[in-house]
Amino acid sequence: MRLPGSLGPLALLLGLELALGRGQMTSQYCGPQGQAEKLQFIGLGKGRWLDPQARPPGSLDPLYRMVRGFLDMVQLNPFPEGLIRVALNEPSLVRTSDVVRYEAGYVVCAVIAGLFLLIVPTVGFCFCCCRFRRRCGGRVKAEHKSMACERGSLMTFLLLITLLLLTGVVCAFITNQRTHEEIGPGVRAVPGVLNSLQGLVSDVPQELQAVAGQFSIPQNQVLEELNGVGANIGSTIHTQLRGTVYPMLASLQRLGQDMQISLDHLYKINSSTAFLQAQQEPLGSSLQDRRQKLLSLLQDAQCQGCASALNHARLLELGANFSQVPSLNSVLQKLKGVPEANFSNMVQKDNSTFNTLPVLTTLEIADTVHELKKEVSQIPEEVRTLSEGFPDSEAADRWRQALAEAENSSRPYLHAIQRYERYRWIAGYVLSSVILLVVICNLLGLSLGLWGISAREDSSHTEAKGEAGAQFLMAGVGLSFIFSGPFILLIFVTFLLGGNIQTLVCRSWESQELYQFADTPGNLPSSMNLSHLLGLKKDISILSAYQQCKEGAALWKVLQLNGSYDPEKHLDINKYTARLREKMRNLEVDMSDLNLLNEAAERDLEAFRNSGIEKIDYPSFLAQVQKPVVQVDILKLVKELEKLGQAQKESALGQQLKQEAQTLQTLYQEKILPQETHVVTLNRSVRALSASSSRLQMVVSETLVNTSFLKTELPNRAHWILRNESECFLNREMSYFSQYMDWARKMVTEHIATCQPLSGALDNSRVILCDLIANPWNAFWFCLAWCTFLLIPSIIFAIKTTKHFRPIRKRLSSTSSEETQLFHIPRVTSLKL
Ligand SMILES: *[C@@H]1O[C@H](CO)[C@@H](O)[C@H](O)[C@H]1NC(C)=O
Ligand SMILES: *[C@@H]1O[C@H](CO)[C@@H](O)[C@H](O)[C@H]1NC(C)=O
Ligand SMILES: *[C@@H]1O[C@H](CO)[C@@H](O)[C@H](O)[C@H]1NC(C)=O
Ligand SMILES: *[C@@H]1O[C@H](CO)[C@@H](O)[C@H](O)[C@H]1NC(C)=O
Ligand SMILES: *[C@@H]1O[C@H](CO)[C@@H](O)[C@H](O)[C@H]1NC(C)=O
Ligand SMILES: *[C@@H]1O[C@H](CO)[C@@H](O)[C@H](O)[C@H]1NC(C)=O
Ligand SMILES: *[C@@H]1O[C@H](CO)[C@@H](O)[C@H](O)[C@H]1NC(C)=O
Repeated sequence: MRLPGSLGPLALLLGLELALGRGQMTSQYCGPQGQAEKLQFIGLGKGRWLDPQARPPGSLDPLYRMVRGFLDMVQLNPFPEGLIRVALNEPSLVRTSDVVRYEAGYVVCAVIAGLFLLIVPTVGFCFCCCRFRRRCGGRVKAEHKSMACERGSLMTFLLLITLLLLTGVVCAFITNQRTHEEIGPGVRAVPGVLNSLQGLVSDVPQELQAVAGQFSIPQNQVLEELNGVGANIGSTIHTQLRGTVYPMLASLQRLGQDMQISLDHLYKINSSTAFLQAQQEPLGSSLQDRRQKLLSLLQDAQCQGCASALNHARLLELGANFSQVPSLNSVLQKLKGVPEANFSNMVQKDNSTFNTLPVLTTLEIADTVHELKKEVSQIPEEVRTLSEGFPDSEAADRWRQALAEAENSSRPYLHAIQRYERYRWIAGYVLSSVILLVVICNLLGLSLGLWGISAREDSSHTEAKGEAGAQFLMAGVGLSFIFSGPFILLIFVTFLLGGNIQTLVCRSWESQELYQFADTPGNLPSSMNLSHLLGLKKDISILSAYQQCKEGAALWKVLQLNGSYDPEKHLDINKYTARLREKMRNLEVDMSDLNLLNEAAERDLEAFRNSGIEKIDYPSFLAQVQKPVVQVDILKLVKELEKLGQAQKESALGQQLKQEAQTLQTLYQEKILPQETHVVTLNRSVRALSASSSRLQMVVSETLVNTSFLKTELPNRAHWILRNESECFLNREMSYFSQYMDWARKMVTEHIATCQPLSGALDNSRVILCDLIANPWNAFWFCLAWCTFLLIPSIIFAIKTTKHFRPIRKRLSSTSSEETQLFHIPRVTSLKL
C-alpha cells in the first residue's frame, strides 16, 4: 500500500506560505515577456538637416597654415567695418584711397607683380636679342684653374633650384586639382543650404502633425498586446499555481485510493470476524462430541498402542476464541456510506478546471479588455492638438520668399563660378605643365651637360652631348621668359580673390566679427536687416541667436512667434494613462470553480478522521489469529487413527477407529478449513490496517487542513498574481507611450522646432567656403608663385651653366675664324631664342 509521506503536504503548505509571503514583500516581479519591445518611429524634419561639414585633417595642413600666415602678413588691417558699411549702403561714396589704405598689403604685392610682369619679359627680350647678335651667353672664353669649381657650384645651385621648382610644381598640381574638386560640390551645395532653411518655421505645424500621427504606433502595439493579455495572465497564474495544485491533486488522488484500500480491509475484518464467531459455537460442540467418542474408543483395554493417539485426542478443543476480539461496530457505524465521493473523478475534474485557467481568464476579462481597447484607441486631446497650438511667425513667409529669391538669383552666379573655375583649372593645369617642362629641361640639360663634361678628356669625343645639354637649358630659359607673364597674371588674380576671401570674410567669420557687424544698426542696408528678415526676438542679437541655435535652442526661444508654445503641455498624457490604469484595476479572475475538495469528499475525509480506525485494538485480533483454530493438528490425528485402525487385531475396534478418522476428516473439510481460511484473511487485513491506519489518519487530517487553507489561499494568490501581472502589463504598455513621448519630445525640440538648421547652415557655409575651398585655392597660387619666383634664379643659373657646357675654345685654335667654330654649333639655339 502506497502512502504519501506525512511530511509532504506540510512542506507543500510551508512552501506555499513562503511563496505568498515573499510575493507580498517584493513589490513586483515581471517575467522576461514583461520586457517592452523597442518601437520604431519614422524620423522627421530631415529636410532641414544638413550633414555637418568638416574638413578632415590632411597632409596639406602645414601648407595651408603657412599660406594663412603669409596672408595675415599681407593683410594686417582689422575688419574694415566703416568701409564695408559705406560700400553696402552707398557704393558710390566709396573712396578709392580708403580701399587702397585697407588693401595696402595687396597693393604692395600688386606692385611686385607689376614689376615682375614688366621686367622679366623685357630682360628676356633683351637677352634674346643679345644672343641673336652673339653678344652674350656664348661660351667660356678660356680654361682657367677655378673653372671646374665655379662650374660645379653653378650646377649644384641650378640642381637645387630645379628640385625646389619640382616640389612647387607638384604642390601646384595637387592644390589645383583639390580646389577644382572642392568648388564643384561646394557650389552645388548652395541651393541645398538655401532650400533647407525655407521651411524652418512654416513646415513645423505639418511635421508636428506627422509626429502626432505616429501616436498610432504605440496605440497599435498596445491594442495588439491587449488581445493576448487574458491568456497571458491566465497562463501565468496557471504556471505559478501549478507547483501547488498538481501535487495537491496527486496526493488527493492517492489518498482516495488508500482510503478505499483501508475500508476494504476493514470490511474484510468485519466479515471474517463475523463468520469466525458464528462458526465457533457449532465447531466447538462437534469437537466435543468427537473427543468423547474417541476418548472412549482409545481408552478401551483392547486398543493396542493407543497411548499417543489418546494424548492427541485429548487436545481436540478450540484454540482461538473469536468472541474475545473487540467489536468494530462503532467504527463501522461512523464509516457508514464512506466513500461518498469518487476521488479519482473529482481530481480529474479539478485538474481539467485548473488546466483551462488561461481560457477561463480570457473569457472572464473579455469585457474589461474590450473597454480598455476602446479607451486606448482614442488619441489623447493633448497629442491631437500638438500642431494646432504651434504659433506662426510673421517672418516665415518673408523669409521663405527671400531665400527663394536668393536661390533663384544665385543660380546664374553659381553657373558663372563653375565656368570660371573650369577656366582657372585649365589655366592652372597648363601653366603647371609649363613649369614641369622647365624642370624637365633643366634636369635633362644638367645631366647631358655633366655627361659631356665628363667625356671631355676623351679626345675621340665630339662636343655634341654638352651642346645638347646647353640647348635644353636654353629651352627652359626660353619657356620661363615666355610664360612669366601668364604666370604672374594668374597668380595675382587668384591671389587677390582668394586672399581677400580669407582675410576679409573667413577671418572675420571665424572670429564672429561678421555677426557683430550685422548686429550693429546701420551697418547693413535696411533691406538686408537680418534681424527683421529672420524675425528674431527683439532682445536677441544675431550673434546670440547663432550661438543659441548652435546649442539647439527651440524656435520659440529665438524667433518672434505669434504666441507661445509649450510642447510639454502637448506631450503630457497623464490623464489618458490614468484612465487606462483605472480600467486595468477592474480586472478580476474568479477561482471559485477550482474547489479542490468537493463536499462529499470532505465529508468522507471528516468521517474517516473521526472513525477511530487507528484506535481499534489490533493486537487483540492478532492474539487470537496467532492461536490455532483447533489445538491439535487434525490431519495428523486422522492419519494416526487410520494407522491404529489397521493395526488393531479386534476388527470391530479397528473399524470404529477408521470410521472416527473418516468423521474427523469430514469435520475438518466442512468446518475447520473455512475457519482457517477466514483466519488467514483476518490475519492479512488486520496487519495491513494496523500498519497503515495511524499514518493514513494523519495524512487525512493534514489534507483536510491543507485543502481548507488552499480554498481561501488559492483565490488570494491568483488575485495577487493577477494584480502583479496586470501591473507588469500596464507598465509595459505605458513604456510604449513613454517611448513615443521621449521620441516626440526629442523630435520636436531637437529636430522639428529647433533653429539649429540655421546655425548648421551658417557653419556649413563657412566650412565649405573657408576650409574646403579657400584653403586649397590659396595654396594653389602660393605654390605657383613659389615656382614663378624661383624661375628667376633658375634662368640666371641656367644661362651661366650653359656657358660651361659649350665646347671651350682652345687657345691654339683661337686664331681660327668664328665661322669655322660656328660650323660646330648648330643654329637651332638662336632660332629658339
Ligand atoms: C493534471 O493535468 C496535468 C496536465 O495535463 C498532468 O500533467 C497531471 O498529471 C494531472 N494531474 C493529475 C493528478 O491528474
Ligand atoms: C459487519 O458484519 C455484520 C455481521 O455479518 C453485518 O451484519 C454488517 O453488515 C457488517 N458491516 C458492514 C459495514 O459490512
Ligand atoms: C470465549 O470467551 C468468552 C468471553 O471471554 C467466554 O465467555 C467463553 O466461555 C469462551 N469460550 C471458550 C470456549 O472458552
Ligand atoms: C525663379 O525664377 C523663375 C524663372 O526664372 C521664376 O518663374 C520664378 O518666379 C522665380 N521665383 C522666385 C521666388 O523669384
Ligand atoms: C532691424 O530692424 C529693427 C526694426 O524692424 C530694428 O529695431 C533693428 O535695429 C534693425 N537692425 C539692424 C541691424 O539694422
Ligand atoms: C496671431 O495670429 C492670429 C491668427 O493668425 C491673429 O488673429 C492674431 O492677431 C495674431 N496675434 C499677434 C499677436 O500677431
Ligand atoms: C499472519 O501473518 C504473518 C505475517 O504475514 C505470518 O507470519 C503469520 O504466520 C500469519 N499467521 C497465520 C495464522 O496465518
